Amino acid sequence: MTPESIVERLRRPTRLPDNPFSYEYFQKELKFFGVRKDMEQGNVCVKVKQLSGMCSDFLNKNYRIMSDKIPVLFGRETEEDSWCLWMSITPMEVQSMYLPILEADGTVWTAGLGLGYYPLRVASKDSVDKVIVYETNSDTIKLFKRRYRKRKCFSKIEIREGDFRVDCLDKGLPDQADFIFMDVYATRNSDLLKEDAAKYKPEYENYWPWCWERVLVDALVFHDYTFSMWGNLRAYLKAWMRTTVNEASPPEGHDERSEGMTLDQLYEPAYYSREEVGEVLESMGIFYEDAEEEDE
Ligand SMILES: C[S@@+](CC[C@H](N)C(=O)[O-])C[C@H]1O[C@@H](n2cnc3c(N)ncnc32)[C@H](O)[C@@H]1O
Repeated sequence: MTPESIVERLRRPTRLPDNPFSYEYFQKELKFFGVRKDMEQGNVCVKVKQLSGMCSDFLNKNYRIMSDKIPVLFGRETEEDSWCLWMSITPMEVQSMYLPILEADGTVWTAGLGLGYYPLRVASKDSVDKVIVYETNSDTIKLFKRRYRKRKCFSKIEIREGDFRVDCLDKGLPDQADFIFMDVYATRNSDLLKEDAAKYKPEYENYWPWCWERVLVDALVFHDYTFSMWGNLRAYLKAWMRTTVNEASPPEGHDERSEGMTLDQLYEPAYYSREEVGEVLESMGIFYEDAEEEDE
């Protein structure tokens, strides 16, 4: 499989198979992943927790009330440390991985493993032949294998214990890499995203860092940059702008103040530095027009 050119990406159909912002889609993904039971492995554990409190979306805040049971991955460095939240299956996470799941084909390279949602999800696609996952934490790998080794798509997943940057990206990918999804970030950190993109994007055309769409949305909506969007991204943003809070919530599960509002009406930026957002766009190879520069 050859990497897709920018022109081919722009020509792709603009209809998404699902609405990633709907409550229905979230339910589907939770069911796919499986909630199951609590499990512990050394210094990591998965606990089934009930969603409560404010449950925001990937691109906007949201005050809906959700009570679904979701799996949450906690980890700690040593037995003396307290548990830290590493990953959970929330609407935010599911929406944030929708496009990198949709865009992935052929041989997919990814890091890290976390709960294994992304690896399992891409491995279940017919168009994906193989998924190679890098993960630094051996307990996370053991836990994932215990939980999912009986899944049909598990045979497509090869897990390698190691640092994705040092052991893989810096050395050059030895085999085919049709899509690379980088998700080693504990939080939305634009510095790390920018540093990694500047280093790896020039070398790997199909490199996709987690939260990349979030930067693009902030660039367009908050910072006034303009650039041409390819089909799937355009369709994704259209879906976001058309989905109402009611569709994104369980029945009777939203605040009456947001009744009938579309999700984009609840938008608030995640990346406030205009300069940094411009630098991420540049390092990811996006050619943009800068409205502020034109005004000067
Ligand atoms: C947010 S989780 C990944 C979630 C995953 N995409 C999923 O769908 O469940 C981040 C994971 O990256 C791992 N990690 C952190 N730095 C890494 C690195 N340099 N190389 C490989 N894995 C790394 C962490 O141990 C953690 O399991």
